[in-house]
Amino acid sequence: MVQVDNDLLNTLKMFDRPGPRYTSYPTAPVFSSEYTDKRYEIDVIRNNHENPAPLSLYLHIPFCDTLCYFCGCTTVITRNRDQISTYLTALETEIGRMAAYIDRDRQVAQMHWGGGSPSYLNPGEILRLSTFLKKYYRFAEDAEISVEIDPRGLTFEHMKAFHAMGVNRISLGVQDFDERVQRAVHRVQPEAITRQALDWAATLGITNTNIDLIYGLPLQTLETFQRTLDKVVEISPNRVAVFNFAYVPWMKPHQRLIHSEDLPDADAKLQLLGASIETLTRAGYEYIGMDHFAKPDDELAVAQRQKALHRNFQGYSTKAGADLYAFGMSAISHFGDVYAQNAKTLPEYLAAIESKRFPTAVGYKMTKDDQIRKFVIMRLMCDLEVEKSEVEDFFNISFDEYFDSSIEQLFDFVRLGMVRHSLNRIVIEESGRLVLRNIAMCFDATLNRFREKPLFSRTV
Ligand SMILES: C[S@@+](CC[C@H](N)C(=O)[O-])C[C@H]1O[C@@H](n2cnc3c(N)ncnc32)[C@H](O)[C@@H]1O
Ligand code: SF4
Repeated sequence: MVQVDNDLLNTLKMFDRPGPRYTSYPTAPVFSSEYTDKRYEIDVIRNNHENPAPLSLYLHIPFCDTLCYFCGCTTVITRNRDQISTYLTALETEIGRMAAYIDRDRQVAQMHWGGGSPSYLNPGEILRLSTFLKKYYRFAEDAEISVEIDPRGLTFEHMKAFHAMGVNRISLGVQDFDERVQRAVHRVQPEAITRQALDWAATLGITNTNIDLIYGLPLQTLETFQRTLDKVVEISPNRVAVFNFAYVPWMKPHQRLIHSEDLPDADAKLQLLGASIETLTRAGYEYIGMDHFAKPDDELAVAQRQKALHRNFQGYSTKAGADLYAFGMSAISHFGDVYAQNAKTLPEYLAAIESKRFPTAVGYKMTKDDQIRKFVIMRLMCDLEVEKSEVEDFFNISFDEYFDSSIEQLFDFVRLGMVRHSLNRIVIEESGRLVLRNIAMCFDATLNRFREKPLFSRTV
């Protein structure tokens, strides 16, 4: 177990800088509007013809009732149910349009509804959308179907609708159980509501559960956050995500509603991270990597031990080799060498659907260099090690020659005992997991392009 003592905390501070979270490589800032809906259409046809893998579907449901001041997601805050209904019709149009391009033999291995808050749909809307999906796509019997839930406003009827559509994994946003913190971020969520949501899920047999927390929120102290962590351990979900607060007010101006003097500094944030790791690992959770903890018998932990873990826009995943087709505003698809992101605002998305085309706004075709770097970065993020000979065999390169400048940048981490570098392996040690983003950045060839622009949140 990693001991987060003062020496380590001081070392970690040295690495505090803006950096990507590597849910993709290259990261979204390289996507360009030169990649159009027409090119996407050609790539969808080509991919379906040449390389028909199982499907992973993502649906973006952007709506929320009220705005949490910390929120970094792509949301639409509304109480206008007509607006939601209009969006669902557009979403169905997009889903149906894509189905015409996809072989019916291709089964859905995984589906995720994210947001925003999918639970802000009413039970009738949830059932309408899932019935529509099942009409157009074939779901594997063991498909993983997961949704993100905001426990506020949730009813047993919602949970029954999710259960009826086959949901077998739920993720609940909590962030922090402390009421003062909740008030400071405009998200008051009594603990009983969270527990009630999990009880309803258990009653229906949905036992794969995750709780999201965030460290670095205003007014969080070691003492208050420790209480939150203790409660999470007592509730005992299979997975816990403890996200580093991405404070990016230049991209999310509403984050300025948070009193910046209430934010914990880098020292305090690291203490919160240290407490999270210690509390959760002592309670038996495995520290998977960036932000994520899972019980040893959870698929995520099992997959990591078997080196079968993957990383995608939703974080870590156990479904290898599936092609990601994403629907809804701002959603990002990824298959083969293609990344394609839908229009990022509601009016643009609706207009694109109305004009009978794919709503692609930006995209990117990976080069061979991108593929090599993605392979290395994803192995580091998932397996916490990379075997050089595997990369060499796969891509027909000499690892040490190809990555000589990356290896040079790794020396800082090697010197500090965070990375072990041998003839055939790069292994991330326990303490190195805390700077996983920074280690991955050594292999990123695109960062120089973004030096001038503030794009990424801080790594610590
Ligand atoms: C789409 S939300 C989850 C569902 C629902 N909207 C909710 O909040 O309960 C996804 C998660 O992203 C995390 N998140 C949102 N904004 C963040 C930020 N600025 N920094 C770090 N994590 C953030 C939160 O933990 C949140 O639960
Ligand atoms: S954190 Fe969740 S509930 Fe809050 S505004 Fe963001 S998406 Fe909506």
